[in-house]
Amino acid sequence: MTSDGPTPRRAVILGARSAIAQAVALRLAQQGWDLVLAARNNATLEPVAADLGLRTEQGVQLLEFDALDLDAHAELADRIRACAGEFHLAVCVFGHMGEAEAERLDTNQMVRTLTTNFTAAAVCLAHLANDFEARGEGGIIGIGSVAGDRGRQSNYPYGAAKAGLATFLQGLRNRLAPAGIHVLTVKPGFVDTPMTRGKQGMFLVAPPERVARDIVTAWEKSRDVLYTPWFWRWLLLVIRLVPERLFKRLKL
Ligand SMILES: NC(=O)c1ccc[n+]([C@@H]2O[C@H](COP(=O)([O-])OP(=O)(O)OC[C@H]3O[C@@H](n4cnc5c(N)ncnc54)[C@H](OP(=O)(O)O)[C@@H]3O)[C@@H](O)[C@H]2O)c1
Repeated sequence: MTSDGPTPRRAVILGARSAIAQAVALRLAQQGWDLVLAARNNATLEPVAADLGLRTEQGVQLLEFDALDLDAHAELADRIRACAGEFHLAVCVFGHMGEAEAERLDTNQMVRTLTTNFTAAAVCLAHLANDFEARGEGGIIGIGSVAGDRGRQSNYPYGAAKAGLATFLQGLRNRLAPAGIHVLTVKPGFVDTPMTRGKQGMFLVAPPERVARDIVTAWEKSRDVLYTPWFWRWLLLVIRLVPERLFKRLKL
């Protein structure tokens, strides 16, 4: 079922099998958005789509999407339209966190982390930004990480990619603001999802539903950069202030 009215708002969620993505999808649907859930093995999302449709009465479509198939992203906007119709918001959620030790020993694993979290996200969003700009409408939410705010020995390839993504989103925001196309950068702290389960050194872990609520509220308020939960903004302010000559000796 689709929402009433001549122009239903439709959001595409890239990496929709993610725990955070599914919490965001529910929040958006509750706010009246139709959805396109784009993911690898998207057939596995059929029960999720059916549940979202039943709970919110919004239209939910599925789209096959592999972020690492960079050449395919030029056709992404047209594929979304063919599958569901016009869309007005892109939420880029997919990501990959490798194992620090494995990435040191095998640079192919590091390349996967760098490519998934930075290059693939940037290429997707570059194409979608051009599409939005040509139409004069649209919006982008990109999921970065607090890990991008300072490099640490435990995950610096992931952090470097997320830092690159944050700068890319900042530039997009600057470019697209005159066209009325808003870009929100999200920097979650630790979230209880498959990405972090079993990892050492986790603290202040938030449920995905809390993060999703913050994301959708920040979007509705046209915020530019969101740290979620809120206290990570202040924690990272303190962490960024630690002098490098001390920071380099910490085991983080
Ligand atoms: N969890 C945290 O503490 C935390 C903190 C800060 C930022 N983040 C960011 O939040 C976002 C969502 O992560 P999450 O915590 O919800 O973890 P998650 O449940 O593990 O989700 C990550 C998702 O990325 C998808 N993905 C990876 N490579 C892909 C590819 N090549 N093509 C399509 N999809 C791909 C995975 O798809 P499959 O299911 O098909 O493998 C998975 O569903 C990520 O960008 C992550 O970096 C998470």
